Amino acid sequence: MERCFVLSKVSSSNAMWGGRFAEGPSAIMREINASIPFDKALWRQDIAASCAHVTMLAACNIVSAEDAAAILAGLETISGEYEAHGVPENWDLEDIHMTTESRLAELIGVAAGRLHTARSRNDQVATDFRLWVRDAIDQTDAGLAALQRALVAQAGVHAASIMPGFTHLQVAQPVTLGHHLLAYYEMIRRDRSRFADARARLNVSPLGSAALAGTGFPIDRAMTASALGFDSPMRNSLDGVSDRDFAIDYLQAAAQCALHLSRLAEEFVIWASQPFGFVRMADSLSTGSSIMPQKKNPDAAELVRGHSGRIIGCLTSLMVTMKGLPLAYSKDMQDDKPPVFDAANLLGLSIAAMTGMVAGSSYRTDRMRQAAELGFATATDLADWLVRQADIPFREAHHITGAAVKLAESRGIALDELPLADLQAIDNRIDDRVFAALSVEASVAARASYGGTAPDQVRARVAEALGELEAEA
Ligand code: ARG
Repeated sequence: MERCFVLSKVSSSNAMWGGRFAEGPSAIMREINASIPFDKALWRQDIAASCAHVTMLAACNIVSAEDAAAILAGLETISGEYEAHGVPENWDLEDIHMTTESRLAELIGVAAGRLHTARSRNDQVATDFRLWVRDAIDQTDAGLAALQRALVAQAGVHAASIMPGFTHLQVAQPVTLGHHLLAYYEMIRRDRSRFADARARLNVSPLGSAALAGTGFPIDRAMTASALGFDSPMRNSLDGVSDRDFAIDYLQAAAQCALHLSRLAEEFVIWASQPFGFVRMADSLSTGSSIMPQKKNPDAAELVRGHSGRIIGCLTSLMVTMKGLPLAYSKDMQDDKPPVFDAANLLGLSIAAMTGMVAGSSYRTDRMRQAAELGFATATDLADWLVRQADIPFREAHHITGAAVKLAESRGIALDELPLADLQAIDNRIDDRVFAALSVEASVAARASYGGTAPDQVRARVAEALGELEAEA
């Protein structure tokens, strides 16, 4: 009985299209085809590229000066309309390119039809999208510079604030908070260089590739390229319309950057937990619990950690979209935009959240210092002391230190609380100068090798970083 019902359902076309598809396949086509709901974000770039294109067409005597002037004036009007009221979303007009062209026709009449001479939506969208990603890179870079400034500022304040350094999330050796934060400065520095690299490769113009093969009109591709701030026209029209490497490059850099932000966010989640209590997060970036009145949750940090998964997913999404496509344009490529738009939005928010967190948290250096005293964090310093003062090979010193740690652990005291006599019973080459090496301050100060955690080293790196940031301003 049920089977018959199902069969009768699929055999009737109305039932099969169902619901909002009652009009049949044309309604499905209209909806699946429409990119205007998301590609309206390209409107500024679309208008800029159209202005460059029509100006070139006039300069090359392909359209008349009067028609070009009418088109430029019309585009300016449309720009004002979009700015004031947003871009209208009519699915029948498919995308931002047709939406703008159809409005232009309403405004200036038949001359509007000349704008698309020697151009296809294929090179048009490739151009618009490149321009959009270029802007996104510039915004991302500015955000990352602000995050770097926040990191360096805190690193300067905390060049000598001692905290435990971890390996395996076990207390390993004392480090300074400034040193820890500057590690993230370095990661962000590499991220910025990846974005800069992506930008340099991106900055060539597909405009004039037309549908795929170039055009028979005597266009000047160098002119439109330079008007749009590109370094040069792309050298192959098939590549021009089908290349989305620039978007993937951007997403790769974004994914790597999001991964770094997620690691930093995770530090804050751990540091803000009660057993750690290393930071108190700004109220503005935390939330309370609806049931537990004492709670202050690090939601912003958790969401940055979560967003990194989505951003990495955007990269995967676009790579999978592109991997099977033969030359040149295929409609699959319309799906290139949502992952890039999503990633850019999520990344921008994540960068802003982490900048606020780094700048606005209060760092509980007393708690950090206490934690650095735990876990025999200066054991390596005892071993190093034995090597230096008693000329003992490091492996043997390591063994002697192990015995001292075991003894201190069994008594529930710190290494530098062991009486000298007990240390000497372990190895009689130890004398009372050893205690100077066992404090956490002595430990960090001793690590003055280039790039080490010693406060002087950290201050030198802070100065270097500030110089770098000033030089680019
Ligand atoms: N909306 C389309 C896209 O984003 C524009 C290009 C359409 N080209 C075509 N041959 N149908 O890809």
